[in-house]
Amino acid sequence: MEKLKPRDKMRITLALTGASGVPIGIRLAEELSDECELFTVVSDSAKKVMETETENKKEALERLGELSDSVRQEDEIEAPIASGSFETEGMIVCPCSMKTLSGLATGRSSNLIERAGDVCIKENRKLVLVPRETPLSQIHLENMLKLSRAGADIVPPVLGFYFKPDGLDGVVDYIVSKVLERFGIRGDLYNRWNGLD
Ligand SMILES: Cc1cc2nc3c(=O)[nH]c(=O)nc-3n(C[C@H](O)[C@H](O)[C@H](O)COP(=O)(O)O)c2cc1C
Repeated sequence: MEKLKPRDKMRITLALTGASGVPIGIRLAEELSDECELFTVVSDSAKKVMETETENKKEALERLGELSDSVRQEDEIEAPIASGSFETEGMIVCPCSMKTLSGLATGRSSNLIERAGDVCIKENRKLVLVPRETPLSQIHLENMLKLSRAGADIVPPVLGFYFKPDGLDGVVDYIVSKVLERFGIRGDLYNRWNGLD
């Protein structure tokens, strides 16, 4: 049997779903683009949210296309990332809607995003979720706990102030850094805490 060839770059799947926070997903793609082979999936609802959260949905989708090695639609369940035999280092769902969160928590695999996430769980690969909703119901919290116990990293887009963010862009970069750090990618996007002088 042929041996697997070593790869120069990590392979990471990035899924954008229909929660608020599309600009965080696009900013993540910008940071991941040079670092890894990037497989992007945009859900149908994420495209609707893009209409509200970007200046121009068409341009936002084109930008994601430029940054990614491949962009897939949620119904493309034949894509390589739908199979455990296609090796990746893991997957990020950012932003992650409560609907996709519940699909992942129940192993529903009803579209490419849920299936690719389910593959990461079954193959013990990294799965980083950026769930966005507020307030959170007991159902949302239970789904997060279930996924955390299954090995997923739950990285909600929570504000921070200690690093003195430069406006909303600074907060977005902070959240992006927190996600990248789960893959061992340590950028210089926010001022790390060094203690009080
Ligand atoms: C403008 C807009 C913002 C939304 N924000 C959220 C959100 O922050 N969190 C969430 O769970 N759902 C949010 N939704 C609802 C989801 O888009 C909806 O549940 C959808 O079915 C999710 O589908 P998906 O997970 O397949 O992308 C939002 C919808 C719209 C139109």
